[in-house]
Amino acid sequence: MAPAALLLTRVAAATVAVACVLSLGAMAQLSPTFYDASCPNLQTIVRSGMAAAVQQEPRMGASILRLFFHDCFVQGCDASILLDDVPGSFVGEKNAGPNANSVLGYDVINNIKTAVEANCPGIVSCADIVALAVRDGVNLLGGPTWNVSLGRRASTTASQSQANSDLPSPASSLTTLIAVFANKGLSATDMTALSGAHSIGFAQCKNYRSHIYNDTNINKQFVNTLRSNCSATPGASDTNLAPLDTTTQLTFDNAYFGNLVKKKGLLHLEQELFNGGSQDALVQQYSTSPTLFASDFVTAMIKMGNISPLTGTAGQIRANCGKVN
Ligand code: HEM
Ligand SMILES: *[C@@H]1O[C@H](CO)[C@@H](O)[C@H](O)[C@H]1NC(C)=O
Ligand SMILES: *[C@@H]1O[C@H](CO)[C@@H](O)[C@H](O)[C@H]1NC(C)=O
Ligand SMILES: *[C@@H]1O[C@H](CO)[C@@H](O)[C@H](O)[C@H]1NC(C)=O
Repeated sequence: MAPAALLLTRVAAATVAVACVLSLGAMAQLSPTFYDASCPNLQTIVRSGMAAAVQQEPRMGASILRLFFHDCFVQGCDASILLDDVPGSFVGEKNAGPNANSVLGYDVINNIKTAVEANCPGIVSCADIVALAVRDGVNLLGGPTWNVSLGRRASTTASQSQANSDLPSPASSLTTLIAVFANKGLSATDMTALSGAHSIGFAQCKNYRSHIYNDTNINKQFVNTLRSNCSATPGASDTNLAPLDTTTQLTFDNAYFGNLVKKKGLLHLEQELFNGGSQDALVQQYSTSPTLFASDFVTAMIKMGNISPLTGTAGQIRANCGKVN
């Protein structure tokens, strides 16, 4: 080979090597354009799937938002929460204490996954479908929108024990809440902004009973209304629902923070955020500034969505969100 041609070959080889390293590096990063070439209709399909689900049952916007939180806090945002238990061989997260008979919306994600597979089979992870569906659910209920970084892959494992240990209980103190979120790299501000997710959706009596019967930092009239549908003793009323946001229950807005200022938090943990402690000033600000709340909520959602993603060749693209390939 002539020296010039050899040199060119070497330059080309070096360029290919550099390009490979760059693309490996890029693969480890989530990006909003990740599926632009491989599944250009993805965002339209997810949006219309969520629009149909929310039209049929507005609560689904809230349920998918909670599902995402409970996924991301356990092994990262890897769709581990979607894996079904297989008796005798696989223990998933669906039956962990905070999830069992409480997290809803699995069918909504499975239906969207089916629609996505019909359009671009084997390309899009269940973890990314959830991240997009959450954004659309919030937005369809009147909340902000944001660009979702993509490229998360789905786990081949789940951890019921981590779901039991790492998800916060509604009886948590402010100190515990701050620590539980710090454990996932989220600040107290992120935690307070994210709690604004309780602007939509419902809780069962068993989760607010102790707050309405044993706590004193609660509005008297509000307590009386709630007690009429949630008896002091466990029993038939355990699963009765009350809206988390007593003023604008299925609209994603900042009214939840106004409720806290009026001591109308439904759950113990919520009122902990406005009870003479470090988050009082922020709760007060969110209650008067919808734009500050929306902007901090979006920032914190993006941070939560970036917890320990599986990227590159880690994990897999499941054919069915409920089971490992
Ligand atoms: C700060 C700690 C948190 C605790 C202790 C907590 C606890 C709870 C509890 C006990 C319920 C009611 C569940 C039931 O009765 O079945 C609930 C509902 C809900 N949570 Fe949280 N939560 C927290 C933070 C979050 C975060 C960070 C998000 C999302 C960003 C979120 C989203 C929701 C939503 C949307 C609902 C209503 C779900 C539905 O109606 O299906 N929560 N939460
Ligand atoms: C999403 O990204 C595009 C392109 O960078 C940008 O023009 C747009 O404003 C972003 N949208 C939001 C809601 O941040
Ligand atoms: C209230 O607190 C007492 C004492 O801790 C406890 O025995 C009781 O079960 C609590 N009641 C409710 C409704 O949580
Ligand atoms: C009482 O609980 C039922 C069952 O969850 C619910 O449908 C109803 O809206 C609740 N009533 C009030 C006044 O909150």
